[in-house]
Amino acid sequence: MAKSVAILGAQWGDEGKGKIVDLLSEQVSAVVRFQGGHNAGHTLVIDGEKTVLHLIPSGILQPGVECLIGNGVVLSPSALKVEVETLEARGVDVFSRLKISASCPIIMGYHELIDMAREKARGSEAIGTTGRGIGPAYEDKVSRRGIRFADLLNPQRLESKLDQILDYHNFVLEHYYQVEPLNPGMVLDDALQLGACFADMITDVSGRLHQLRDAGKNILFEGAQGSWLDIDHGTYPYVTSSNTTVGGVCTGSGVGIDAVDYVLGITKAYTTRVGSGPFPTELFDDVGVRLAERGHEVGATTGRPRRCGWLDAVATSRMVKVNGITGLCVTKLDVLDGFEELKICTAYKLAGEIITQIPLDAENWGQIEPVYEVFPGWQENTRGITELAKLPLNAQAYLQAMEDRCGAPVHMVSTGPERTENIIIQFPYSQD
Ligand code: GDP
Ligand code: IMO
Ligand code: MG
Repeated sequence: MAKSVAILGAQWGDEGKGKIVDLLSEQVSAVVRFQGGHNAGHTLVIDGEKTVLHLIPSGILQPGVECLIGNGVVLSPSALKVEVETLEARGVDVFSRLKISASCPIIMGYHELIDMAREKARGSEAIGTTGRGIGPAYEDKVSRRGIRFADLLNPQRLESKLDQILDYHNFVLEHYYQVEPLNPGMVLDDALQLGACFADMITDVSGRLHQLRDAGKNILFEGAQGSWLDIDHGTYPYVTSSNTTVGGVCTGSGVGIDAVDYVLGITKAYTTRVGSGPFPTELFDDVGVRLAERGHEVGATTGRPRRCGWLDAVATSRMVKVNGITGLCVTKLDVLDGFEELKICTAYKLAGEIITQIPLDAENWGQIEPVYEVFPGWQENTRGITELAKLPLNAQAYLQAMEDRCGAPVHMVSTGPERTENIIIQFPYSQD
């Protein structure tokens, strides 16, 4: 039976989703992005060549795979243009394979201006956003004043909508944030020009997915960001503005819950976070520096250094439940090579009490102290190992501990950035 798999980040993003989406895309007819926007940075390494994708689904380097951008994605046409042109210049066929939902909310220049002005105004309480206008674009969608992809192809409708929207946003920009207002005529011309570049890609993505399902084709849903950045279930307000958890698959692409046969949760063998907000296991010592150096932990979108720490099994096990994770893919195991000892956080201390669940009030996250279990490390090199039995025994034991403490079986392990550097324990797509 064909299967549809959702790939989601189980931590704070950058778990290595792009690499795994690319790998599994070989098995599918279509790969779908369903939330987020070009705040994502998904890295693929194939025969030493690195590609970072922001908006285009990570199936694009597998020939023949259809790449769909669902209605839940906030689309920046200018960012998309750069990405499409860069790939096409490398000989990757994007134009005939990329399809975009008519309902995608559009990220306009004013969204980026508002995002940056607002971050500046928050000062020390800034979220540390990617500055890509993601939050303001989702706000316009929810307030029912946003521009959608289909509007870009209808000049009269776009002009009348933009008149009203700019009346509002220009007032806020000028009088609240003291930023230069935008010229409506220029915004309109830009939007029409960019819209025309992608006119042929407009698609009923939801309907296309139903067709593929009915024809028994395999589909892959590609999550962006991580579960702890979810607008509802994450470390609010230090989150992104979409549902990064499993519900986003259905609302962001227009399929039923029965369209998700398997949820693959991607987790690093440790933890990273980029931007502000609670991170109970964050390390400020040499160990943190070593994780950052060995893992090359620099943001793929903004180039900011990622904060690093030990694996947090309290946080990850929560997201196993929130997402209904079928199996885990543990990435960057090789980064832990050479450590004397490794730690996994299995409880928190809050106001002198030991708790094994996340705190009731998200505002309490800041006061949490991690409680660790310690595991022996290994000195051998695990980079590129493709069989579980070839891993050092202590690495096998660490994976078993991850499975036990996080509450989901480890079905895949990534041992390097290359497409081929994986251990497959149980393959998410059925082989029959
Ligand atoms: P994503 O946003 O979840 O797709 O992850 P990113 O691409 O932002 O960050 C993951 C980084 O780790 C990228 O630079 C990958 O090339 C790299 N990577 C992925 N898996 C592995 C692995 O198993 N080992 C090592 N050393 N690097 C990996
Ligand atoms: P991928 O898909 C890691 C973080 C930002 C910030 C917060 C809100 O590569 O895993 P936003 O610009 O979305 O309003 O910023 O979310 N963030 C990410 N962190 N990986 C990402 O994407 C992220 N996308 C957004 O750093 O803390
Ligand atoms: Mg990333």
